Amino acid sequence: MRDESGAVIRLEDYRPTDYLIDRAELDIRLDRHATRILAKLHLRANPAGRPAVPLVLDGDELRLVSLAIDDVPAAPEAFEASPERLVIHAPPAQPFTLTIETEIDPTANTKLMGLYRSGSAYCTQCEAEGFRRITYFLDRPDVLSVFTTRIEADRDEAPVLLGNGNPVAAGDAGGGRHFAIWHDPFPKPCYLFAIVGGRLDKVADRFTTMSGRAVEVAVYVEPGKAEDATYALDALKRSMAWDERVFGREYDLDVFNVVAVSDFNMGAMENKGLNIFNDKYVLASAETATDADYANIEAIIAHEYFHNWTGNRITCRDWFQLCLKEGLTVFRDQEFSADERSRAVKRIADVRVLRAQQFAEDSGPLAHPVRPRQYREINNFYTATVYEKGAEVIRMLRTLIGDDAFRRGMDLYFDRYDGTAATIEEFVACFAEASGRDLGHFAQWYEQAGTPTVNARGHYDAEAKTYRLALTQVTPPTPGQPEKAPQVIPIRLGLVGGSGTEIALSPAATAGHMPGVFVLDGPSATLTFTNVPEKPVPSLLRGFSAPVRLEIDLEEDELLVLFRYDSDAFNQWQSAQTVATRAILRAVGAGTPPAPDRRMADALRHFLSMRAGSDPAFAAQVLALPTEADIAREIGHDVDPDAVHRARQLVKVELGAALAAELAELYSQLSSREPYVPDAAGAGRRALRNACLDLFAAGRPAEGEELAMRQFRDADNMTDRFAALGVLSHLPGAARETALAEFSERFRNNALVLDKWFSLQAMIPEPETLERLRGLMRHPAFSMGNPNRVRSLIGSFAMANLTQFNRADGAGYDFVADMVLALDARNPQVAARLLTAFRTWKMLEPRRRAEAEKALRRVAGTPGLSPDVADISGRSLS
Ligand code: PHE
Ligand code: ZN
Repeated sequence: MRDESGAVIRLEDYRPTDYLIDRAELDIRLDRHATRILAKLHLRANPAGRPAVPLVLDGDELRLVSLAIDDVPAAPEAFEASPERLVIHAPPAQPFTLTIETEIDPTANTKLMGLYRSGSAYCTQCEAEGFRRITYFLDRPDVLSVFTTRIEADRDEAPVLLGNGNPVAAGDAGGGRHFAIWHDPFPKPCYLFAIVGGRLDKVADRFTTMSGRAVEVAVYVEPGKAEDATYALDALKRSMAWDERVFGREYDLDVFNVVAVSDFNMGAMENKGLNIFNDKYVLASAETATDADYANIEAIIAHEYFHNWTGNRITCRDWFQLCLKEGLTVFRDQEFSADERSRAVKRIADVRVLRAQQFAEDSGPLAHPVRPRQYREINNFYTATVYEKGAEVIRMLRTLIGDDAFRRGMDLYFDRYDGTAATIEEFVACFAEASGRDLGHFAQWYEQAGTPTVNARGHYDAEAKTYRLALTQVTPPTPGQPEKAPQVIPIRLGLVGGSGTEIALSPAATAGHMPGVFVLDGPSATLTFTNVPEKPVPSLLRGFSAPVRLEIDLEEDELLVLFRYDSDAFNQWQSAQTVATRAILRAVGAGTPPAPDRRMADALRHFLSMRAGSDPAFAAQVLALPTEADIAREIGHDVDPDAVHRARQLVKVELGAALAAELAELYSQLSSREPYVPDAAGAGRRALRNACLDLFAAGRPAEGEELAMRQFRDADNMTDRFAALGVLSHLPGAARETALAEFSERFRNNALVLDKWFSLQAMIPEPETLERLRGLMRHPAFSMGNPNRVRSLIGSFAMANLTQFNRADGAGYDFVADMVLALDARNPQVAARLLTAFRTWKMLEPRRRAEAEKALRRVAGTPGLSPDVADISGRSLS
């Protein structure tokens, strides 16, 4: 394997390379089993490196065919080549060239890193360390080279040949072969290198940039699917316009290509001028994609495009700085989606993801800082912490210094570091300079793992008309960080009067900060508000202004005041969630149905009457109860997933029954006969209608089943059809099986749709699910070789079926452990990701905890593990 597994790489050990590669000229002759790569590298000593030392290039499973130094074949004693390394013992003192010929087998590449085949196409994936599987190189992000790439292939097999940068030449190569030459003028690290060859269709358009340059934009897909790429192309053009408008960033090449492939380890990849996508995030039609799919496509197209400035023009000095490009680019794509759709709803959706993924990670054995200080396998650090918490840190920065200073800081960063490989320190310094603030303490967010808990206690003095708010913070220990220091926590806040009026904040309370923002930067603080005419309800952490848990001693009535009146939509939603969470927690404690909660039902009824019409997307978020995982995190320790499931179900049934009439009425009001359009407005109406159906079916299962079955059969779009199938999937019986069978029959030729079908069945919270899963693994559409199939069937079970993955008998853990081991030999990256399903094992009750540990130990003790799985299993057990 490529790294001695166990070797720890540390941030403090960073030093520049001893050599630089200024230019790389590649000639790639595509062949299914024997692709030849001729790489001419123009090297020189790095002035920042050590003089006259051997040159060590990285490789991974490579076979060297020939080597020349300054165009002269290298003598055998001048170098040493292994699959992992090419060492040139005494490189020339002056700038020199290496001409390296390697041969690889793209068909045998099941790791999907480097050059591989997906369907009938050739494609590449080089981040983080895949380029070394193509040729020997200084495979690290601080080595920036100008790439020129000649690609040659059989014209029949691969009529389309794409590379980074601009096309410069193409022609016949004789013998049925042809070639294309691409040149990328922007120096880049090799992780951004890409080529594609294949028989592909495209949709194309032209985008004129703010300075008037014409850019050819295109999305390439498998033959016959071009129609399904038009939404992605449109999202791309909107992203390009948005980045000009909001960040002043213009595109810089003559072409921008996106290629969709069906075998891909991640979501997509920002290769310069040639983004390669998991086809799940490109292909969409009304019949096959849900509104959520459309929103994901829009967000990921934007994300990869935005990387052109945050990631590509300015890249990372080393992989410890991953959040420099990822956190920042997630922040940018979140803002884009907020502008294109509903800002409040987008924020709620993002916080749901943050809590579900990042909070879960942060509270278990895999917790790590946004900028880790050490790693064994970098592939395992493409995490919710680096991405989502990384985005939250940027958001807090903007909250702290304000929009204007934030924009000035971004401009300074782009100006100063364009064309370089930068660090977090350099990034943060731009904002300190732009705002005139000391951000030293704030930057601790990059270093300290763990989710802080902020506790708030309020006291109203009616005599003095003052309101005192006592705040404390504490961050729990995480692996390697037993002691925690206080963080800088921006708390956006307001005071709401009992009848809903927003009480003006006395300026002293938040002095020195942005309006309405208090910054808690010590272990505790007391805030005093004066001239408060009545006992207020504090609305804290508005817009979720910091990634923390908030504990506050509000009465149910007070929460309902916020739900009804808060001017901050996020906190309106949050207060409804908190009321629901408490009801479910009471039911967990009691083990029996809690006393019917009239107030909650009444509040929801009132809310629906006021807001369902004007803001259906928001109303749908309010109707969605906290998930089982949310409740489990709230409990925090000794969790019994079955008890959580039962309690949540009790509350849902009760609420559905109490609101049945209103839900049914709203459901029929929202039924539309208009043709499907995947826009935010339509999506909002469908989301609410389907939320009504879901809750109604919980309260009135027989009628709900009928309604769902009708919707399932009559739907003219996947959103409604799949939502109905989702409702049916939770109602055991013949109707469910009939609907599932009809669905798979109807979409038997569409792998992406069958993924939905796999995933839905994997999430059924019943003991029979594991058997069902074993059966589905034999389905002709399933394959362990395709990451999307694995994630939908096995990943959904492991990550999103709380009761069945965590079966008390340990059979869920055993199954997932078996799958991880089976996958590891083929695709370690996907195997390791699947294993992270165990990240919350320590918060389970003792019996399950023991079973989970046993399964983890079995994985960890298996000989010949990849570094990826060895790293996750090792850390999970620590
Ligand atoms: N850099 C990609 C993104 O976030 C993610 C990715 C990482 C893809 C590693 C492939 C491999 O946009
Ligand atoms: Zn990214």
